[in-house]
Amino acid sequence: MYLQRRNRILRSHAALRSIVAETVLTPADFIAPLFIDEGSGYSQEIPSMQGYYRRSIDLTIEEAKVLWSLGVKCVLLFIKCEDELKDNTGKEAWNKDGLMQRAVKALKDALPEMIVMTDVALDPYSEYGHDGIVQDGQIVNDETVEALVKMSLSHAEAGADFVAPSDMMDGRIGAIRQGLEQHTYTRTGIMSYSAKYASCFYGPFRDALDSAPGFGDKKTYQMDYANRREAVKETLMDIEEGADIVMIKPAMAYLDIIREVRDAVTVPVSAYHVSGEYAMIKAAAQMGWLQEDKAILESLTSIKRAGADLIATYFAKDAAMLLNA
Ligand code: PBG
Repeated sequence: MYLQRRNRILRSHAALRSIVAETVLTPADFIAPLFIDEGSGYSQEIPSMQGYYRRSIDLTIEEAKVLWSLGVKCVLLFIKCEDELKDNTGKEAWNKDGLMQRAVKALKDALPEMIVMTDVALDPYSEYGHDGIVQDGQIVNDETVEALVKMSLSHAEAGADFVAPSDMMDGRIGAIRQGLEQHTYTRTGIMSYSAKYASCFYGPFRDALDSAPGFGDKKTYQMDYANRREAVKETLMDIEEGADIVMIKPAMAYLDIIREVRDAVTVPVSAYHVSGEYAMIKAAAQMGWLQEDKAILESLTSIKRAGADLIATYFAKDAAMLLNA
């Protein structure tokens, strides 16, 4: 047989495949989410996220040191708020001595170079488990934005490198940027969850933080998964309002959105490989139905190939270990 082109030549052995690979994953691509709880020496596995833990601040620092040593340079913090501190104003969210604020300070003291990002949304602090303030059964936008600005300022004061608003209220990026400017936090970045979909894949996360909505769902603020153009609209507006990094969430069922946004913007794009996506791989691996290591690397590579510059993933440590091996 005479063939002008033999495409298999470039696939013929591992070294060759690696020099022509279009997408190369590195530990610096990852943002490691960390769940923080009160106490010391405390760590608790999350039942729906096997192998993932909620930890007290001291053990969180130990974990962050391990991540840093593996080449992971960025963490994204979430806290579990005690029930008696939850209300409908979210005021614990900007308590100067709150768990988040203490965690940020402790992490930046221990690992000054680690990039510390903080989740900004009211759900862990809300007695209703919603990302905003509730009035007459509605999640009210403008009052919530005011609360998110206070929350962001208090994270900036504690030393956060980036605030990461995950709430999907209108106008919050502009308001947060304005607040940061007014208070001269001119080095605090904003990573906006700009296209965050109302997704069933957040289920395990809500177990981790005990933050499931007490009534209704989040469809009046998070996006409808039927929509693609709307993701571009949301993202362009967030950039105009001052977002430094934008995010698509979830990741694997939304690879088309990641690509669409990557092609539409010039800022770094991140994607959140969410708790349900983690749980699916873990569960299938536990049943012996998938090879976990391979599933991790293939999934994360596909997210990067789709156009994500950064990937928030509960596999950050596992993947970094695999890549360093
Ligand atoms: C809260 C928030 C959620 C996640 C990140 N920030 C849950 C939600 O919106 O209900 C989900 C993360 C995950 O599932 O891994 N604003």
